[in-house]
Amino acid sequence: MIQYPIYLDYNATTPVDPRVMETMLPYFTTHFGNAASRTHAYGWVAEEAVAMAREQVGSLINAAASEIIFTSGATEAVNLTIRGVFDLYHAKGKHIITCNIEHKAVLDTCELIKSIGGEITILEVMPNGLPDLVELEKAIRPDTILISIMYANNEIGSIMPIAEIGTIAKKHNVLFFSDATQAVGKIPVDVIKDNIDLLALSAHKLYGPKGVGALYVRRKNPRVKLKALQYGGGHEKGMRSGTLNVPGIVGLGKACAICKTEMEAETKRISKLRDQLLNGLLALGCTALNGEKKLLLPHVANVSFNVPEANQLINQLQKQIAVSSGSACTSASTEPSYVLKALGISDELAAGSIRFSLGRFTTEQEIEDVIKYVTEVVNEMR
Ligand SMILES: Cc1ncc(COP(=O)(O)O)c(C=O)c1O
Repeated sequence: MIQYPIYLDYNATTPVDPRVMETMLPYFTTHFGNAASRTHAYGWVAEEAVAMAREQVGSLINAAASEIIFTSGATEAVNLTIRGVFDLYHAKGKHIITCNIEHKAVLDTCELIKSIGGEITILEVMPNGLPDLVELEKAIRPDTILISIMYANNEIGSIMPIAEIGTIAKKHNVLFFSDATQAVGKIPVDVIKDNIDLLALSAHKLYGPKGVGALYVRRKNPRVKLKALQYGGGHEKGMRSGTLNVPGIVGLGKACAICKTEMEAETKRISKLRDQLLNGLLALGCTALNGEKKLLLPHVANVSFNVPEANQLINQLQKQIAVSSGSACTSASTEPSYVLKALGISDELAAGSIRFSLGRFTTEQEIEDVIKYVTEVVNEMR
C-alpha cells in the first residue's frame, strides 16, 4: 500500500532504517552508560559500542577508526573544520577556497571567517555544476590553507571531481575538506584514494538518526590538527568536548554498516527508478533536467517545468507528493535557488524547478504514481 504523500525528498532527510532503530534502542535504556565512565561496566559497554561505531563509520570511507570525531551533524562538522583550520593554521595563511554551490553550512561559515580577517575565494561552477579545475589551481596562493569543495551537491546532485581536486590540493600542500553529506552511503567514498584530509557526514541522510554526524580528520600524511569550537571534558581527542550521544552514534555506525554492504545493489535499483521517473517527466515536453545526467548522484533528478506559474507546482502536488525545490534549510525562502542560478538557469525556470530525491524505501509503484500525478497537474497548468 502506498503511503501519501509519496516521499521523494530523501536529500532533505531519510527515515531511520528499522534495523538501525533496533540497534539503537538498548542504548537508551539497558545500556545507558556514559562512554567516558571508566570505573564501571555501564561505561565500558557504552565505550565499546562507540568504538564499534567508529570502526563502522571509518570503514565506509576507508578511514581508520581513530580518525573519526563524532559531532551533532554535518553542520557542526563543517564549522569545526573551517573555523578550526583557520584558527590553527592562520600563521601559515588566511586564504580559503570554496565554490558558489556549497551548502549554506560552508558558505555562511566562510562569511564568518571573512568577518574575522580571513580571505575567501568563491569559485563559480560551470553550467554542469562542477568547478573549473584550472580556475581552482589558479586560485591557490602561498597563503591558501584550505580548499573546501562538497562531494556532491544537495540540490542538483552533481558529483564533484573530488579525486582531481585532492591531487591538486596535495600538490600545493593545501588541506582539502569535503562536505560529503549527500555522497556518503550513496556512492563509494574513499578518503585515501581521493586525498581528502577532512570530510563531513551526517547520519540522517543515510537512514540513521537526526542530530548526529561525524568528521574525518586525517592522522598521517599529513597529520591534521584543529582548534576546537567547544571546550569541556576533552572528549573526542579534545576536538569536541561534551558527553557522547551514545544511541545516536550507535545508530550512525549501524547505518554506515548497512550502506557498506547494500550500497551497490541499492544504487542499481534506485538509479533505475530515478531514470524511469526522469524519462516520464521529460516526456511531458515542457521539462528539462538541471545538470548533466552522467555527473549526477544516482538517486537525484532536479527538473525544471516550463509552464505558467510553475512556482506553484510544488503546492499543487503537496497532497500526493512530498518534494522540495532544493535545500530544506532554505525551503521557506521565496527566492529562486542560488544553486540553480549559479548554473545559469533563469529566475523563472529556477522558481519552477523541483528536486526529486529517491531512496531506500521508494518503490516502482510510487514512481508510476508520481509520474501520473505530475502529468495531470502539469496538463492542467498549461
Ligand atoms: C551538503 C550538505 N551539507 C550539510 C548539511 C547539513 O547537515 P546536518 O543536517 O547534519 O547539519 C546538509 C543537509 O541538508 C547538506 O545537504
